[in-house]
Amino acid sequence: MITLLSHLSYVAITAPDVEKSVKFYEEHVGLDVVDRVGEDVYLRCWGDYYRYSVVVKPGSEPSLATMAWRTTSAEALDEAVCRIEAKGIAGEWVDLQAFGKGYTFVGPWGHSMTLHWDVEHYRAEANASIYPDRPGRRSRHLGAPRQLDHVTIAASDVDAFAAWYNEVLGFRIMARTVLDEAPLSVFSVLTTNEKSHDLGVVLDGSTRAGRVNHYAFWVDTREDLLQAADVLMENGTPMEYGPSIHGIGEQNFLYFREPSSLRIEMNTGGYRNYVPDWEPNTWKPSLGSNNFYRNSAMPMSMTESFPAADGPSATEEGVPDEIRDALLNPYAQHGRG
Ligand SMILES: [Fe+2]
Repeated sequence: MITLLSHLSYVAITAPDVEKSVKFYEEHVGLDVVDRVGEDVYLRCWGDYYRYSVVVKPGSEPSLATMAWRTTSAEALDEAVCRIEAKGIAGEWVDLQAFGKGYTFVGPWGHSMTLHWDVEHYRAEANASIYPDRPGRRSRHLGAPRQLDHVTIAASDVDAFAAWYNEVLGFRIMARTVLDEAPLSVFSVLTTNEKSHDLGVVLDGSTRAGRVNHYAFWVDTREDLLQAADVLMENGTPMEYGPSIHGIGEQNFLYFREPSSLRIEMNTGGYRNYVPDWEPNTWKPSLGSNNFYRNSAMPMSMTESFPAADGPSATEEGVPDEIRDALLNPYAQHGRG
């Protein structure tokens, strides 16, 4: 298969109070608003190469409206659409704000994905950088992310989700986490490029399809990450988890919530992997898949995905008691998170 996708280009999220969320992104994270169209607000990190990377839309609950990948060419977009429709999925062509045409479809686990080749390359006018490769001047906001990094969704079958996106769109499957207690996949990472992942998937124990666990920004250095944590803490945003290092991918991470309650991650570091026939390794939480140092426990709140789940948990039904706790939070035991 030719390489179809190049990288995650933007995420569109919903928020019950768009202006409250936008104010948070501007004042606490360090993003800039570039466009307002109706009630939708388009934002960017200072180093994003295209016009926007985050869209905040009105919605009754926090959720992922769509996650967008740029294809490698116009031809790759057509090929991707053929491959999606050959799987019996009918998407639609849409006009994307400032970019051009895109193709949006809902995948087998209920997640909207938008593919596009057209973009608007960003070049700041009033705030131009003194360095030619930068789309705009570095932010004055301490710890402001340079660019969008990845998105992690929730699906009821982690391995089947990874296999579908690998087969249809060519995502490389980089690693997976299986419970210590039972051969059940709870996490996997996929990538379209040299990063360990630009798409993650966590096991969703609910009956609600199409949920998201978090999306992530990138900062240049661990010092930037620690300064971001400091600035957020000093200004009223608690650290939900981290700063620490993931075993899988080896990224430094921190997690916090935006006003809608949606979880945001910041990353830096991590390995680069160019191996085209990489065979994904299977980790267990006890090996440090989530926490490289194997010296803490992940808070239960981290298992919340968005929107909130309704009704009983599908995967809890019929699950033996001894793995029920591990299913709810595979990293709850000290040393695993
Ligand atoms: Fe992540």
